[in-house]
Amino acid sequence: MIGNFCYHNPTKLYFGKDASSHLGEELARYGKTVQLVYGGGSVKRNGIYDEVVGILRACGKHIVEDGGVMPNPTVEKLYEGAKLAREHKVDLILAVGGGSVCDYAKAVSVSAYCEGDPWKKYFIDFEEPTCKIIPVACVLTMVGTGSEMNGGSVITNHREKLKIGHVFGSEVMPKFTILNPMYTFSVPKRQMVAGIYDAFNHICEQYFSGEDDNVSDYLSEGLMKSLIANSRVALKDPHDYEARSNIMWAATWALNTLIAQGKDTDWEVHMLGQAVGALTDATHGMTLSAVSLPYYRHILPYGVKKFRRFAVEVWGVKDEGSDEEVANAGLEAMERWMRELGLAMNISELGATAEMIEALADATLVMDGGYKVLTCEEIVEIFKESL
Ligand code: NZQ
Ligand code: ZN
Repeated sequence: MIGNFCYHNPTKLYFGKDASSHLGEELARYGKTVQLVYGGGSVKRNGIYDEVVGILRACGKHIVEDGGVMPNPTVEKLYEGAKLAREHKVDLILAVGGGSVCDYAKAVSVSAYCEGDPWKKYFIDFEEPTCKIIPVACVLTMVGTGSEMNGGSVITNHREKLKIGHVFGSEVMPKFTILNPMYTFSVPKRQMVAGIYDAFNHICEQYFSGEDDNVSDYLSEGLMKSLIANSRVALKDPHDYEARSNIMWAATWALNTLIAQGKDTDWEVHMLGQAVGALTDATHGMTLSAVSLPYYRHILPYGVKKFRRFAVEVWGVKDEGSDEEVANAGLEAMERWMRELGLAMNISELGATAEMIEALADATLVMDGGYKVLTCEEIVEIFKESL
């Protein structure tokens, strides 16, 4: 049965090779001062920065530069960005980059006028914004997180050894997003596959929960199959427009709130992965791939029917044999695909050590929407198996 819900996603998307031709008309809706947020420099090397700045100038905007957003944006950078936004009274925050840049832009938008410490308010106490929110828009350059069409924002606090996400409401979601698959051509292969796995796992997190057969399951299976097929093409030829555009569009749908409607969701792989990220600063998608199989093999007995369905519908495993046999064959097929992509298959290769396990378990939030609510001992066990 599908539960009750209200669905509202306000982000307007422009998709395709000419998507940025709409940037000017969208910018015209906002005031003069634009905080231009970007990462460590990829946008300057691939020409996207020059293109966007050209459009901003043509629209007569005053640009407040805010570059240097690091992968896994930190709380210190958030404080700096919020101060900049407040001091310049910015009218729009334009994020040009991947999930880190988009997430950071959203965090700045609710922190600039926040009374008190935004880290504590949003990421520790999970309170909703009560202050003025600065509108955010995105030009996406790296695919995977879904940040371009959701309210998620993940911030890392290295001092407290925590990486925490807050899913803000529709008023914080990007007002509009430019999705040009060509912008992703320069993404290094390791980042590309990490992003593909991130998107794939977002679907898994929403698929592996609940007993019901609902529309979300069918949508999820279609999205997963599209990601698997197109990842193989993009791996061979990263400049294959069809594959990169399919991956981009599937990744947006993987986490734009649609497939979560009316059902429970899990998110425990993300909690385990974020703990690894907090301690190692590793690439997000790789932290997920490194813990996924030990986690899924651990919870399989509690959701074996769904894992059987996953094996048959997504991986084409023959629907013959016991639930356990078919379900395990599905995870084996997933493992072969993950190795084919070159994903991190354990947390040691990301810099985690046996000595870190206690701290990793401490940093892991326990979710209750999946097939098994993990105990502390089980979390430790999963991390040991992930080493
Ligand atoms: O910093 P620059 O120089 O731009 O380089 C970036 C970065 O090193 C590079 N890159 C991006 N676009 C490029 C490019 N390099 C060449 N050409 C391009 N076109 O890629 C590297 C990774 O970028 P990043 O933005 O960190 O990657 P991603 O999009 O995977 O974002 C990861 C962050 O998003 C959070 C993660 O936790 C992590 O902090 N997430 C956000 C979510 C959300 N908002 O809903 C959900 C996700 O589960 C995730 O947790
Ligand atoms: Zn993710």
